[in-house]
Amino acid sequence: MREQLEQIKASALREIGACGSLKALDALRVNYLGKKGQLTAILKQMGKLSAEERPAMGQLANDVRKELEEALAARQEALRETELAARLEEERLDVTMPGRAKKTGGLHPLSLVTNDLIDIFQSMGFDVVDGPEVETDHYLFEALNLPKDHPARAMQDTFYLGENLLLRSQTSSAQIRVMEQRKPPIRMVCPGRVFRADEVDATHSPVFHQMEGLVVDKGVTMCDLKGCLEQFVHEIYGPETQVRFRPSFFPFTEPSVEVDITCSECGGKGCRICKGTGWIEILGAGMVHPNVLRGCGIDPEVYSGFAFGVGLDRLAITRSKISDIRLLFENDLRFLEQFN
Ligand code: PHE
Repeated sequence: MREQLEQIKASALREIGACGSLKALDALRVNYLGKKGQLTAILKQMGKLSAEERPAMGQLANDVRKELEEALAARQEALRETELAARLEEERLDVTMPGRAKKTGGLHPLSLVTNDLIDIFQSMGFDVVDGPEVETDHYLFEALNLPKDHPARAMQDTFYLGENLLLRSQTSSAQIRVMEQRKPPIRMVCPGRVFRADEVDATHSPVFHQMEGLVVDKGVTMCDLKGCLEQFVHEIYGPETQVRFRPSFFPFTEPSVEVDITCSECGGKGCRICKGTGWIEILGAGMVHPNVLRGCGIDPEVYSGFAFGVGLDRLAITRSKISDIRLLFENDLRFLEQFN
């Protein structure tokens, strides 16, 4: 038995010393020290020994077990270290390597203009609201003081989707939706897409963008309208830009005005962009018609208001000195990337 023990010890130590992986090492442990292991098998025969032999043999067996356990532990430690070192080497990062630049997107010139306008009007206390692009006759015309067969309906070539449904030709429908839902004081802007059956050319597109503005409160006057719009023009185009109010007509405002600014290209001297006049029209506005207020349940004897509708595409074009509105919709990256 002593010989067997010595043999097991020798072969186990040899194998442990040569073992190259933690997994193989565990297999060795099971093979020698496990329940069905070689050493365990010997220990089970201990009972067959005589009483004199037993203590010495037991002592030896225990020493062998201890020695093997220690050898296993030492080998395990060493293997862990080499495996860790190998992993660290393999996963090493070269922090001095130049980074790969990410290509980031940019905002479309129309979004840039819209965001700037929202900032300006929000700073004056306006809310931003959204409205549907498909509207009913009620919101786009009737409630805006444009009954059926009113000749002013022809001011805009509207796309009809059915008897009663149309693509909105102006964001003014948003005024009505807000006035129906809220009590004054109201201050809101609504930016969005509008649609008209226009031929495409350098200044026209069947899809374009507007931002509607509406203020309703007690004692709102034409002075508030002028002050608010002048402030907005100066923030967008600079304080040297002059603003001109021309009498005009819209069914939903009375009085109505069209607002011109001195041409950003020639400063008012007259050029190709302003067709020699020195002025560029940027928006329509006016005092909300009493019929419109009344239709929304707001008493025009108590409240008054002003509204305006500004063309965002025109603004984007004149501000960035773009010559053709079609550039805004062609999605040519060479054009769009200039705005980042
Ligand atoms: N909705 C008008 C247009 O599209 C602009 C406008 C809005 C005029 C609000 C007056 C008041 O031409």
